Amino acid sequence: MFKSIGLFSIVLVCTLPYSAVAGDPVAGDKRYHQSCHACHGPAGKGVSSYPKVSGNSIEYTREKLQAYRAGQKIGPNSGLMIMMAKPLTDEEIENLSAYLKDAKYEK
Ligand code: HEC
Repeated sequence: MFKSIGLFSIVLVCTLPYSAVAGDPVAGDKRYHQSCHACHGPAGKGVSSYPKVSGNSIEYTREKLQAYRAGQKIGPNSGLMIMMAKPLTDEEIENLSAYLKDAKYEK
């Protein structure tokens, strides 16, 4: 309980002053649940052939999403991700990357 309140305020304090440059993990969480959850599962933990996408650095996730958005093939099933990444804005990519870095799957 106290731990989660503490974490929440740390996140708040860290993101507020930088909201113009750094991704907003709360907005990323919302966006994730709109169009990524169905394949990548809760908190990006991965489901069967859909890779785990949480726990990676912001740079890593940003790079992948930008590559897919540019239509670049990375793995054998890139077609699916290219389709999903096409409509993402730079801001959405930042938000999703920030959210996925620390997203944890609670059983
Ligand atoms: C239709 C199912 C589907 C949806 C929806 C989907 N993905 Fe994916 N995603 C995949 C598949 C399949 C791959 C592996 C693609 C490949 O082979 O290159 C992948 C790969 C990725 C990767 C790269 C993983 C790595 O380590 O190489 C990231 C990051 C990612 N997805 C994020 C997202 C985000 C963010 C969204 C929501 C905007 C999303 N995905 C929506 C199926 C999906």
